[in-house]
Amino acid sequence: MIAITRRRMLAGAVAAAAVPALSRLAGAAPAPVVLEARERKRTLPGCSGPSALWTYEDRWPTVVRVPRGEPFAATLRNGLAEHSTIHWHGVRVPFAMDGVPWVTQDPVLPGRSFDYRFAPPDPGTFFFHPHCNTMEALSRGMAGVLIVEDPRDADRFDVDHVIALIDWRVRPDGSFDAFTTPAGAARAGTFGDLRTANGQVRPQVVVPPGARVRLRIVNLDPARAPMLDVAGGRAMVIATDGNACAPFPATGWRLGPAMRADVALVAPAAGRVTFADGWAAQPVPLFDVVVAGARRGPPGRAGTLRLPPPELPEPDLANATLVEMALLAGQSDPEIERWARETGMSADALCLSQRIFWSINRKAWPGNGHERLPPPLAELQRGKSYVIEFFNGTPHIHPMHLHGHTFRVLGATGRTLPPHWADTVMVQPKERLRIALVAGEPGNWMLHCHIVEHQETGMMGYLRVS
Ligand code: C2O
Ligand code: CU
Repeated sequence: MIAITRRRMLAGAVAAAAVPALSRLAGAAPAPVVLEARERKRTLPGCSGPSALWTYEDRWPTVVRVPRGEPFAATLRNGLAEHSTIHWHGVRVPFAMDGVPWVTQDPVLPGRSFDYRFAPPDPGTFFFHPHCNTMEALSRGMAGVLIVEDPRDADRFDVDHVIALIDWRVRPDGSFDAFTTPAGAARAGTFGDLRTANGQVRPQVVVPPGARVRLRIVNLDPARAPMLDVAGGRAMVIATDGNACAPFPATGWRLGPAMRADVALVAPAAGRVTFADGWAAQPVPLFDVVVAGARRGPPGRAGTLRLPPPELPEPDLANATLVEMALLAGQSDPEIERWARETGMSADALCLSQRIFWSINRKAWPGNGHERLPPPLAELQRGKSYVIEFFNGTPHIHPMHLHGHTFRVLGATGRTLPPHWADTVMVQPKERLRIALVAGEPGNWMLHCHIVEHQETGMMGYLRVS
């Protein structure tokens, strides 16, 4: 009952994007969600003509809600002119469902489909996107939000609202600018100039006074790393990358590409709470929570807005093996180039024509496909504990993402981090940052920077679990 009330309120209170787009009807058999990847025209705010977005359905952003632990089925129908896949970012899926072409599955060719089947083990805020030509795909909006609902927190919030952040590289006529530039790829990334939340410029989330509000903020952008800056109310981060944490203030928390924060607040009696990106000379407002209407529920019922603790495999730090990952500038390997010359192998066949700007442990794996599998960055054994220490030897941030695992962020040199779990962690320039995890299912699990131009120009590799 409570859930239905909450849904109805969602639908009534806010823009279309708030409505759970593809949610399962209560009690109905789990019919597969159909995600039809294709170009759809949509006029972005302030543009005189439509833009050629790539989306999974007519509405943007796509939001899929599924119950934790229950079988979930999604069919990707590829209506694009190129192959595609779906990677379920942050979800501890079976290896064959991880959506990495050539690594976990065959690419899904144009006109073909693929069925993804898994039972999401952890509740939280996740997202999904293709794992090929990712810079172009994400820049055209090809991503969706996956919410795994936790029956344990069903009545904790009155409003549960998704905020998907992305900046578009769009010209006034609606056509796109080059998605990637060498100057951006070699530095902090190529940024969009039209900054949006749920495809709108500074949208309003309307909530009643006193409402317990949960905002699921998802950074879909392939380059931008906003720092939350909240004015007009007190907002706490209650989950990082979907995983519950001890609440800490949202202001000052920086969301690298692919990172998510669930933010909780109790709506004030009146007025608005403004969320801005404080990582700028002048904070850039992203969206507002606007208080309107009659008070909802008895005041003070909020209690704690803390979520039930995560239930994840706990790494055994006393017996963990240390693995070091140096994030550095990269160059193509002269050995391989010489070998290519001598054997007459074309540079293209080896992806040597790819620009290389970045590397992990001095190995670069460039490209926007994954046909040529290099040796793994490290070999792990299932069920054993590992501490990975990232060292960032570059002047830029690197939000590092590991597939198929949720890790504990242990800490970083030179700053204090709240204890939290994540699947993507931002490594600051010149720092050492440690994470800990229990190696999961056997497979070649991708590890890469989620500034997608960094990934595609070398900062990509994988961990082999056997
Ligand atoms: Cu969201 Cu390998 O990526
Ligand atoms: Cu990077």
